Amino acid sequence: MLNVLIAGASRGIGLGLVRAWLERGARVFAVARNPAASAGLAALLAEHGARLQVIACDLNAQAAAADILAALGEQRLDRVLLNAGVYGPAAQDVSSAGEAEIGHLFLSNAIAPLRLARALRPQLNAGAVLGCTSSVMASLQLSLGAQMPLYAASKAALNSLLLSWAVQLGESRDFSLLALHPGWVQTDMGGAQAPLTVEQSVAGLVVVVEAAAGTRECRFVDYQGETLPW
Ligand SMILES: NC(=O)c1ccc[n+]([C@@H]2O[C@H](COP(=O)([O-])OP(=O)(O)OC[C@H]3O[C@@H](n4cnc5c(N)ncnc54)[C@H](OP(=O)(O)O)[C@@H]3O)[C@@H](O)[C@H]2O)c1
Repeated sequence: MLNVLIAGASRGIGLGLVRAWLERGARVFAVARNPAASAGLAALLAEHGARLQVIACDLNAQAAAADILAALGEQRLDRVLLNAGVYGPAAQDVSSAGEAEIGHLFLSNAIAPLRLARALRPQLNAGAVLGCTSSVMASLQLSLGAQMPLYAASKAALNSLLLSWAVQLGESRDFSLLALHPGWVQTDMGGAQAPLTVEQSVAGLVVVVEAAAGTRECRFVDYQGETLPW
């Protein structure tokens, strides 16, 4: 049975990822900062309780990785999806954004995921896949972030940290490392006007992640399997 950890699992794409891997028969560790407030997780627990372990954790906390490792115990992981993210200040303006909100944005979207990724590495089985939910907005070459420059910069920082880690690991890396673009999705962040449902995005992401198992690839890729330029 595959062991899958999904962080940022309370709603939106993360909750959809939890549901999808449970439906595929996996054991899922769902990390959420306030699981009791997630009706979606409660429903999945009622349906699949034995294969779903919920871990309460604010991913930005200093102790997040230690808390998650303690909850995992001896359990090793085959898939890790670090999905949590925030949009940042509504104004998205470097002139007006405050220090605290900029710090929270970059901590949430770039630093915390890589911190957790590095801490979870010893738990990964050979051939595993570790994916971080990025965004096409992160692509420096495509430069699509004019409407949301701070969010785009935070996801570019995520991709940069991920690539630096891949270089640091070099040949010792025996797992795949993905920066995943889920498409524009109907969630609290994506809004109701987004073209994709959570189910459509997640169905594609699962195919992309499963295809990466055992390949040791490092790729920026969208939910349809298209490679994106860094
Ligand atoms: N929707 C889109 O169109 C789109 C497009 C490109 C990329 N993305 C990326 O996809 C990912 C998921 O987005 P979404 O649309 O599903 O967003 P969402 O509906 O706003 O959900 C965000 C998730 O992240 C969690 N989270 C945020 N900060 C956290 C923290 N410090 N600790 C634990 N959990 C935390 C939230 O938990 P709480 O419930 O506790 O707040 C929630 O589960 C994000 O990384 C986002 O940037 C989304």
